[in-house]
Amino acid sequence: MAIRLVDWSKFVLVVLVGVVVISYFYHLRGNPKLHPATPRATQHAHQQYFVPKVVHVLWFYPEGTSLRFHQFISLLSVHKFLQPDEIVVWNSHAPEGPWWNAFLLRSPPVTLRHLDPPETVFDRPINITEHKADVARIQVLLRHGGIYLDLDVIILRSFDSLLKHDVTMGAESPDLLGSGLILSKADSTFLKLWLETYRNFTDGDWNRFSVRKPMEIAKAHPDLLHIEWFGFHRPNWFEREWIYSTGLLWDWSENFAMHLWYRTHDTEYEPESIRKLNSTLGEVFRFVFYGSGNIT
Ligand SMILES: *[C@@H]1O[C@H](CO)[C@@H](O)[C@H](O)[C@H]1NC(C)=O
Ligand SMILES: *[C@@H]1O[C@H](CO)[C@@H](O)[C@H](O)[C@H]1NC(C)=O
Ligand SMILES: *[C@@H]1O[C@H](CO)[C@@H](O)[C@H](O)[C@H]1NC(C)=O
Repeated sequence: MAIRLVDWSKFVLVVLVGVVVISYFYHLRGNPKLHPATPRATQHAHQQYFVPKVVHVLWFYPEGTSLRFHQFISLLSVHKFLQPDEIVVWNSHAPEGPWWNAFLLRSPPVTLRHLDPPETVFDRPINITEHKADVARIQVLLRHGGIYLDLDVIILRSFDSLLKHDVTMGAESPDLLGSGLILSKADSTFLKLWLETYRNFTDGDWNRFSVRKPMEIAKAHPDLLHIEWFGFHRPNWFEREWIYSTGLLWDWSENFAMHLWYRTHDTEYEPESIRKLNSTLGEVFRFVFYGSGNIT
């Protein structure tokens, strides 16, 4: 008799725990704040339908390299306007210098993770660092999902409205899809198709793989991604004067971001020298650093 009683109380306990656990998960599913991916995620438990609010940047520079001012502005714009859960700096050696320290002082959710630049892709050698970074960004996003950006891309407003697309990229022109800013869920079909094209990679023809191929895939499979035609990479490479020339001001009020194409611009700025810079660059730098684009 005593044994039977113990069994019954165990049974009741198990049922009670079961009810509590089930109702807890039911509550999680029903609460959009706790679990934003609910409606579709429950149908396909292992697929991720929204781009995670995690930013990925690559830092493949030699040991002792300092973060430059424009790169600091890029990271600051990420922190201010994207407000990500995490900013992962994939690096072979950590960034250094006063602007890196100034960024850390703002308590961004930064994680440093070691990553050596890929030396090959599908057994083909990659010799040039920029091309290694092209491959690495696709691999990182396929694995983790999130927002990748080059450190000369300045964010100008929230990306929250874009995170519902599997992939978002920006056009540089009707034939070129920029690779400096990519939003993607993990394991996206678009990125898989893009990486596949690297089976034929050669350093001499990298433009084909980094910007032409993705646009070809996008045109063949328009359902796989959302394209921002003007909001990411305009002014484009050929329109750089609209960023750097005095008095030639681009209307960036509709831009999500601005790509500075900084590698051809060798000036270093600091907070004082951007105050009176009469260019789109000056407006964008001031907007991020001082909170207003106006010359003061
Ligand atoms: C590689 O190039 C060959 C020859 O142009 C082409 O047939 C093949 O489809 C390409 N492979 C990929 C993965 O793009
Ligand atoms: C890349 O490096 C490999 C090995 O060092 C060399 O054989 C190849 O010619 C290089 N390719 C280019 C395009 O420079
Ligand atoms: C900026 O430059 C343009 C062209 O030189 C000039 O017309 C404009 O007045 C300048 N703006 C300021 C605020 O100095």
